[in-house]
Amino acid sequence: MDIRLAVLSRGPRLYSTRRLVEEAKKRGIDVFVADPMKFSLYVADGSIDIQYMGKPFLADAVIPRIGHSITKHGVALLRHLEQLGIWTANTGQGIIQSRDKLHASQILARNKIPVPRTTYVRDIIDVESAIDFVGGFPVVIKVTQGTQGQGVFLRHTLHEACSLVQGLLLTGKSVLVQEYIAESHGKDIRALVVGDRVVASMRRRARGREFRSNYHLNGTVEKVDLPPEFEEQACRAARVLGLHVAGVDLLEAEHGPLVLEVNSSPGLEGIEKASGANVAGEIVDFVASQTAFSEVDLDQLLRTVPGSGVLSLQLRNHPNLVGQKISQIFNKGSDIPVFALSRDNKLIWNPTDDLLLRYDDVIVCYGDLNELRASIKNAIIGVSKTNFEINEKEESNA
Ligand SMILES: Nc1ncnc2c1ncn2[C@@H]1O[C@H](COP(=O)(O)OP(=O)(O)O)[C@@H](O)[C@H]1O
Ligand SMILES: [Mg+2]
Repeated sequence: MDIRLAVLSRGPRLYSTRRLVEEAKKRGIDVFVADPMKFSLYVADGSIDIQYMGKPFLADAVIPRIGHSITKHGVALLRHLEQLGIWTANTGQGIIQSRDKLHASQILARNKIPVPRTTYVRDIIDVESAIDFVGGFPVVIKVTQGTQGQGVFLRHTLHEACSLVQGLLLTGKSVLVQEYIAESHGKDIRALVVGDRVVASMRRRARGREFRSNYHLNGTVEKVDLPPEFEEQACRAARVLGLHVAGVDLLEAEHGPLVLEVNSSPGLEGIEKASGANVAGEIVDFVASQTAFSEVDLDQLLRTVPGSGVLSLQLRNHPNLVGQKISQIFNKGSDIPVFALSRDNKLIWNPTDDLLLRYDDVIVCYGDLNELRASIKNAIIGVSKTNFEINEKEESNA
């Protein structure tokens, strides 16, 4: 296969890096390991360029293995590569939003993916109401940017919870108070998603009285047959966070799966050993099948035309439009500038003029932003004289 693949990793000898290289070589792919900290990124008027250790960086695709300590640099590098049209298994955006547990759960919840009840606390006076919101003691307290179980705690009394939160806030951490899922004490499920498929999964168990089941805290791993519902939520979680390769952590709650977090550089050792699956091989095959097709950021593309962009309209904010035809919102006579309608976790592409709008729908339209806003405002006023508010997905740069 004539692609040139770089594994972006600081540790060529780490298990996951070695396995990716090994599987790529088996497939005849020209592969090498590049340290994400040894790139030079150049930006000049009208052009960008990149060098690796003082030489041109020649790769068609990269698999990023970006450690938490270098997230910022890693993401800057990926953004640069994306602008150069080099295919990446995970984008900078996907990595950054999955590394913040609050941001990730906001996106997951918004997309109707089940997550534990969680509150963001900025002040010690918020702690008591946060604990009430998540259902009382015991509670899990965690920092938004933690990894490998560091920064995750279980607390049983208000006094304990407050002193912990106080300490975390004082050291500048962002703090979450989360519902404790007792049924899942000491265990969780890791599902490895590649593309749009779970290619391997395992159950992790903590040792002794520990409630965190992280592999790096000496947890044990075992094979598990995932119920379809778990697979589906894992795939959806990876997808809405924009990750092609992801380790999705799920808790087994009474009523089904809850997505706890999504890891953009999942370790391969534990899961390959527990499941017997060739995860590295799956990742390499997926990369090879996708490399020719760069994904495009639609907003960015549209904004090359002054004044144009993408708008979204959430019907729940305009209940008076519910039950109306989609054609009533936009100027009659012209084509409807709606290219998608999001309903029940599905997209309806190019909806027909007579489609009736529902409360949970989200309309995504594109074109001249001023015209779009004017049409939508007219429609809202036309239907009834209530307040309006348009969610702007992107501002025009005109
Ligand atoms: N709300 C919760 N209820 C029960 N167990 C939890 C909860 N949150 C975390 N855990 C346990 O702690 C572990 C680490 O939490 P997690 O949020 O994944 O942080 P990290 O990023 O450090 O891995 C999980 O794998 C799980 O075993
Ligand atoms: Mg975790």
